[in-house]
Amino acid sequence: MIYNAQFVNEVLENFHNSFMAKKRRWCDIASIEPEGSNYKKKLYQLLYTLRYFPAYYLEYCVLADALRQRVSGKYNNLNVASFGCGICPDYYALKDNLAGVKFQYVGYDRCEWSSQKYLPEISSNNFSFEFFTTDSFELGDLDDVDVFVFPKSIGDIAAGDGLEHLANVIASTKKEKIFFLNSYVSNGSENMSSNAGYFNVVHNALESEGFITSDKVSTAQYKGKFGAGLRSIEYNFCYPEKFLITCDNQGTKTLCGHCGVVKRPVMTNRFMEYQILEYVRE
Ligand SMILES: C[S@@+](CC[C@H](N)C(=O)[O-])C[C@H]1O[C@@H](n2cnc3c(N)ncnc32)[C@H](O)[C@@H]1O
Repeated sequence: MIYNAQFVNEVLENFHNSFMAKKRRWCDIASIEPEGSNYKKKLYQLLYTLRYFPAYYLEYCVLADALRQRVSGKYNNLNVASFGCGICPDYYALKDNLAGVKFQYVGYDRCEWSSQKYLPEISSNNFSFEFFTTDSFELGDLDDVDVFVFPKSIGDIAAGDGLEHLANVIASTKKEKIFFLNSYVSNGSENMSSNAGYFNVVHNALESEGFITSDKVSTAQYKGKFGAGLRSIEYNFCYPEKFLITCDNQGTKTLCGHCGVVKRPVMTNRFMEYQILEYVRE
């Protein structure tokens, strides 16, 4: 598996610089959680990226490497659709790990994620981002997709009541084999999150269209021993101290008691929860 630490450092540097320049507005997002329309706030996108990007990119690298092992030598080209892609850490994970397997990636998100402009430029033409809600898909729209990705997004899609519709569009495919790279928002414990259960909606729709899988839908993984530091899982993982957020005014306001800005980024596998599923027609 390839974890591109140089790339992650560049991302952190760009987002950190931009976030530091907006210090005066930090308190506006101090109580914000990663959910709903909060992703629309540009300042929150910067904070979200600083906190989660390295850990999530690592998790998607694990999934991309697992996909490579299954498809290598069997596909000339893979069509990938990612739902709730954000700034698309999963695209970079696929790019870095699908070694030799060509792919076309389309990432869909109902937020514009304008902070994408702080990412290193993508030189290949296999990437596109669609500002699009999955509720607007129509039957047939996803017929050419081989790999579906839910990158920490299925809970948000379900919360908007659109999961059943998306499941039906996916399940109406004419493909004989499709893959799912699922990564769930973990509850921080060893037990599977309620988030993971949402995939049953997709599984049931696929079953009713004659798909089966020999992968275990009811289990998800975290790499290594539970609670392990990400550096112990992937030697190249590194979160430079200079990119951690510190605030000169810490402790001066009531808001500081539950501040979500001065918070450590994800550094352990406690928030990993992933599975790769391969479905074929019976
Ligand atoms: C937890 S974030 C994950 C972002 C990104 N995949 C990552 O790994 O950092 C969930 C994303 O799903 C998006 N989302 C939620 N419901 C959606 C829908 N129905 N259609 C498209 N995007 C959706 C949100 O806007 C948000 O960007």
